[in-house]
Amino acid sequence: MSNLREAMAATAAAVEAELERLIPTVPASAAPLLAAMRHGTLGGGKRLRPFLVRASGEPLGADPAACLRAGTALEMVHGYSLIHDDLPAMDDAALRRGRPTVHRAFDEATAILAGDALLTLAFEALGRDDWPAAPARKVALVRGLAAAAGAEGMCGGQTIDLLAEKQTLSLDATGELQRLKTGALIAFGCQAGAVLAGADPATFDPYAARLGLAFQIRDDLLDVEGDAQSAGKDLGRDAAAGKATFVAHLGAEGAKAELRRLRDAAIEALDPIDADTTLLRDLVGFVIARDA
Ligand code: IPE
Ligand code: IPE
Ligand code: MG
Ligand code: MG
Ligand code: MG
Repeated sequence: MSNLREAMAATAAAVEAELERLIPTVPASAAPLLAAMRHGTLGGGKRLRPFLVRASGEPLGADPAACLRAGTALEMVHGYSLIHDDLPAMDDAALRRGRPTVHRAFDEATAILAGDALLTLAFEALGRDDWPAAPARKVALVRGLAAAAGAEGMCGGQTIDLLAEKQTLSLDATGELQRLKTGALIAFGCQAGAVLAGADPATFDPYAARLGLAFQIRDDLLDVEGDAQSAGKDLGRDAAAGKATFVAHLGAEGAKAELRRLRDAAIEALDPIDADTTLLRDLVGFVIARDA
């Protein structure tokens, strides 16, 4: 496990440096926008999604620098999704990664624009020629990231998440909501690693589906029993907002049992993969027990 911690820390440092390089510092006339983009992405976060790109791709032979670029683009989309998720029109959150949310530190319009600019910057970063991947692979990543982020992925899931505040979803429908809202970007992390290794993009899909659902169930448990100081974000709000979660359906103990089931299933899904999947396996334990 200490290997996992070191590998995650190394990825986080590399992603931080890559974001620093890629987020523009000009034009000066857009200074508040650029500052908001930095506030929303730099200096925090677990960098789980870029880590997935590396931990999936590198054992299959992908170039580490390519994994870093794809992971950083994915992290930009994730950062945008959090900035918008925290807006008053969505979850109305004040704290993120131990700091004021972007719309609190700046204003709502700037937060909306910072999210928009990070989303487009992600695709610009993939389309550039200053990183090592064949053009056809870059195109595959652009398409895959767009699909994971859009109406059939994260945005679609966020829509259902908000609609569900006003109606009751079945457990199955809640699982579908989580698959789109959170699972799609997580699955793309593993798909990107496979693409950059020249492997079947779906190599890790069964693993990623289980990991993604476990990740969101743990997030929803943290909302109920986590410590806001450690989590660095607003907690204890999902129930009052009427969010559809596994915790609401199964209770905390039932959700924990589901986490254990998903842990075993995720690890089992790695069995057929002919590569060193140690980091991916250890990551499952981290995801179901994390307190941030
Ligand atoms: C939070 O994601 C939003 C969810 C999908 C639950 P993370 O827990 O990965 O947030 P950071 O990037 O580490 O802050
Ligand atoms: C957000 O889920 C998932 C996204 C697509 C951003 P949550 O709303 O539960 O994430 P937190 O708890 O605010 O981090
Ligand atoms: Mg939300
Ligand atoms: Mg939220
Ligand atoms: Mg949450």
